[in-house]
Amino acid sequence: MKFFYPEDATPIDDISGLKPNWVRTQEELNQVEAENVSDAIDKYLIKAVKLPQSWFNVPTLNEIHRAMFFDVWDWAGKFRTAQTIPGLKPYQIPEALESLCRDVQFWCSKDSGMAPIEQAAQVHHRLVWIHPYPNGNGRFSRLVADRYLKAWKCKVPYWPTDLGENGQHRKDYIAALKKGDRGDYKPLVLYMMKCGAK
Ligand SMILES: Nc1ncnc2c1ncn2[C@@H]1O[C@H](COP(=O)(O)OP(=O)(O)O)[C@@H](O)[C@H]1O
Ligand SMILES: [Mg+2]
Repeated sequence: MKFFYPEDATPIDDISGLKPNWVRTQEELNQVEAENVSDAIDKYLIKAVKLPQSWFNVPTLNEIHRAMFFDVWDWAGKFRTAQTIPGLKPYQIPEALESLCRDVQFWCSKDSGMAPIEQAAQVHHRLVWIHPYPNGNGRFSRLVADRYLKAWKCKVPYWPTDLGENGQHRKDYIAALKKGDRGDYKPLVLYMMKCGAK
């Protein structure tokens, strides 16, 4: 079996966690993952979303990743144990996620001076920077950012559908995320606004 990955994506060296035994090609894998993700979008984005205080916590984040990939991978919703790039050291993941959750709870409880879209951009970037799971972190963190915006009654971005493939869309997106690596979230906010977020 041969799988292909775009630049800056986590390569899956280990397919031992793959559940459907009939998957033989990248196209079949993409298809079965897309179906699983689509069911999770129905559950976590299309239905009404409460304010983040009630759901932005580590168990719920794990539950969302699990819902997105449970049909396909046995590690869905479970933290990775191997190093990835980007990605913190595996032992740093639980505390970094708790720290993000604490920041979010703070932003929601006080007037932090940050617009919801700035908060959502930072949520998106910090989740991929931490990279909690073996794979699917990009799709997961975009869904969480969308859910965050929806909770605040904001317009969610239409993320280009080809972000998982090499091309101009991915290039612009990764460039904006890389600015986030240095603490500058403006390009990611602008990128999300260009995709229709407001
Ligand atoms: N330098 C970077 N800084 C922050 N995030 C990055 C960087 N490079 C890649 N990413 C994020 O990592 C994602 C790829 O991680 P991966 O776990 O393979 O997610 P998915 O399988 O959903 O594409 C990209 O979609 C992007 O969101
Ligand atoms: Mg990937």
